[in-house]
Amino acid sequence: MCRWLTVCCLLFVSSVSVAEKPQAESKLVPLPQKVSAPKNNPTTPAKVELGKKLFFDPRLSGNNQMSCATCHMPDKAYGDGLALSPGAEGKPLKRNTQTCLNVGFFKTFFWDGRVASLEQQALGPIQSTVEMNQNLDNLEVELAAIPGYVTEFKDIFGTRPNKDGIAKALAAFQRTLVTESSPFDRFLAGDQDALSADAKRGLELFRGEAGCIECHNGPLLSDGNFYRLGVSFKDEGRANITGMKEDRYRFRTPSLRNIAETGPYMHDGSQKTLDDVVTFYFRGIPDSGPDGLNPDTAALDGVSFSDIAPIVEFLKSLSGKAPELTPPNLP
Ligand code: HEC
Ligand code: HEC
Repeated sequence: MCRWLTVCCLLFVSSVSVAEKPQAESKLVPLPQKVSAPKNNPTTPAKVELGKKLFFDPRLSGNNQMSCATCHMPDKAYGDGLALSPGAEGKPLKRNTQTCLNVGFFKTFFWDGRVASLEQQALGPIQSTVEMNQNLDNLEVELAAIPGYVTEFKDIFGTRPNKDGIAKALAAFQRTLVTESSPFDRFLAGDQDALSADAKRGLELFRGEAGCIECHNGPLLSDGNFYRLGVSFKDEGRANITGMKEDRYRFRTPSLRNIAETGPYMHDGSQKTLDDVVTFYFRGIPDSGPDGLNPDTAALDGVSFSDIAPIVEFLKSLSGKAPELTPPNLP
């Protein structure tokens, strides 16, 4: 009895001490070098090759002129460098294009987290009338008339080209878009010289006084949750999915991996540079929003402006080399 009590007490004490330990250290971790795949869609080289072809193939769009890579350009860190990309009719989309780099580590996708797998995600932009504007039944017919695709789908999935296989192949390809370790990862692994003095100071602020780590943590420097920063009060964001008033204007915390290469920033592309974003955290976050829906974090007005530059330096240390890409030969 007494022994059990001791064991319980020890367990209790140890769990408390874990919870009370300052979490900052444990919250920033290196990027794993491999994305795990769901059981029903293992990543195989042949599937990744097929996914790559589909990603670059404009025949996936209604007018055969737009591929995934039109907006997710490999030489622009799989974004397109625009605040808002032009969609199917040339009209700007409502949200900034997200990068596909390291996207396989997320648990929900899009700015509002509206889908829960890359397989589910893939068919969205193809069908979206404002994006690729393609009817999926027509797409199946179109791909079935391309002998190269017919053979590949048969070998990989044992079927004719169909939407399920298209989604799975696109997801498998995107799971391979993992960046190599960044200066920050090397620093975490013990290489003190991997970061400049400024970047180290920025890291200190990031996980200390500036509080960035509250939301930007884990391997992607994103907690995957949804917050209202008051960037704008137009797009209702997460509330469109949950229907909850308190989710209005909330968006998924973005990954900060390779962030120096993926501007402009924020869900609406309203911040041009990293300097602008960090300045926004210092002085741009409004005190209040409509209907009492105030931002989920406050402006850092107690923190010195001279801290902006080191934070930006730290953010720049989060870039790792993207995987080498040989453009595919389309069938
Ligand atoms: C016309 C430009 C455009 C095209 C074409 C396009 N996308 Fe996107 N992509 C976007 C935009 C904009 C978003 C953010 C949309 C949102 O949050 O509502 C996005 C988001 C994504 C995301 C989510 C990333 C994350 O962090 O959650 C993935 C993955 C993605 N696209 C893959 C693809 C694939 C695969 C294709 C081709 C089948 C494709 N995209 C075609 C513009 C485009
Ligand atoms: C309360 C949670 C939270 C805190 C604290 C926070 N962020 Fe963010 N961050 C977000 C969200 C959510 C967005 C997207 C907001 C939007 O688009 O409306 C974002 C966007 C960004 C972006 C732009 C990313 C992109 O792809 O467009 C950068 C860079 C960034 N944050 C860095 C920082 C830094 C540096 C700090 C500390 C000074 C910080 N964040 C503090 C949640 C947070």
